[in-house]
Amino acid sequence: MSVQSILQQTEFSKSDIVELLSSEGEEKQQLFDAASRIKLDNVGNSVYLRGLIEWSNICRKDCYYCGIRRSNHRVHRYSLSEDETMDAIRFAYEKGFGSIAIQSGELQSRSFIEKIDRILTKTSEMTQGRLGITLSCGEQTEEVYRHWFDLGATRYLLRIETSSEQLYRKLHPDDEDHRHATRLKALESLKKIGYQLGTGVMIGLPFQSVEDLADDLLFMKRTDIDMCGMGPYVEHHETPLYAYRNLLLPLSDRLSLSLKMIAVLRVLMPDINIAATTALQSIEKNARMKAIAIGANVLMPNITPKRFRDDYFLYENKPLSSQNDEEELRFLEEQLQMIGHEIGFFRQGNSLHYQPQR
Ligand code: 5AD
Repeated sequence: MSVQSILQQTEFSKSDIVELLSSEGEEKQQLFDAASRIKLDNVGNSVYLRGLIEWSNICRKDCYYCGIRRSNHRVHRYSLSEDETMDAIRFAYEKGFGSIAIQSGELQSRSFIEKIDRILTKTSEMTQGRLGITLSCGEQTEEVYRHWFDLGATRYLLRIETSSEQLYRKLHPDDEDHRHATRLKALESLKKIGYQLGTGVMIGLPFQSVEDLADDLLFMKRTDIDMCGMGPYVEHHETPLYAYRNLLLPLSDRLSLSLKMIAVLRVLMPDINIAATTALQSIEKNARMKAIAIGANVLMPNITPKRFRDDYFLYENKPLSSQNDEEELRFLEEQLQMIGHEIGFFRQGNSLHYQPQR
């Protein structure tokens, strides 16, 4: 079937999705045009901001792809102090970001949990609950997830990384700390508690096929997610997966595939929030704008205190802004204007897909 006729359907099979993800040239453009239209019809031309706080790079996990994995002893480890965190949050609040995302290496200790508790409590106090809070702090018990929800976190982002258990096993150590089933269960808990649920995958991993990526999109649809953050896999030389870099697509193809993933997800799930992620930007400066133009509607400007940013080094070429955060914001605003979009300042930008009490 042609891409044009696939796009006219309302249900999409795995082979339809593979076809869309494989489109090139004129057909790829048809996909992008359809996704762009669907986005404007359903979520409009506002782009919502999540001030991204890379809270700590201390991690108990040892994922083979990630620069801050436990076994990488070259990393200078840090956690933000409470004051540093609250300063960043205040900045986001005052500048009208509408929401923040607290992202961290994964820890399950009491002290870690309690530090997040205090940040949530202080943020709710400072903003009278007006600032949307997304947590991205890995796998936790259902009890902890519930506790954080009660303290004011309303969204949680936990990437499944890949929906294929077989591929997941190739990317992680074979031990109790790295089980695909545990991650699935965590997503279930988050949904049950009532978070706006976010997940995502890496695109262009070694050993990953287009069929795997089609399954990833079907997984997101089936899981009925409210938000997605996904981006290209970018190798990091101090990780085990670096040994397989000869299996990778060129970076430009990984970028193209990532944009197609975003566009197809928008076609499959018209009203969810989709982030234009930082990893896109690491391949091409303007890639986030391309992602916005073809389906994404969320940007996550980094507002981590500058001196820690180099330490949250997940992959090579991670963009390190030379501008200050305010200049960066103006720059984003101008860039968005050029593609007919505007920033939803002072708006939380909740997922329109989200249905409480499901
Ligand atoms: N390339 C791209 N994304 C990566 N992540 C970790 N390592 C890499 C990499 N090498 C992503 C994972 C993780 C998030 C914190 O960063 O998807 O969930």
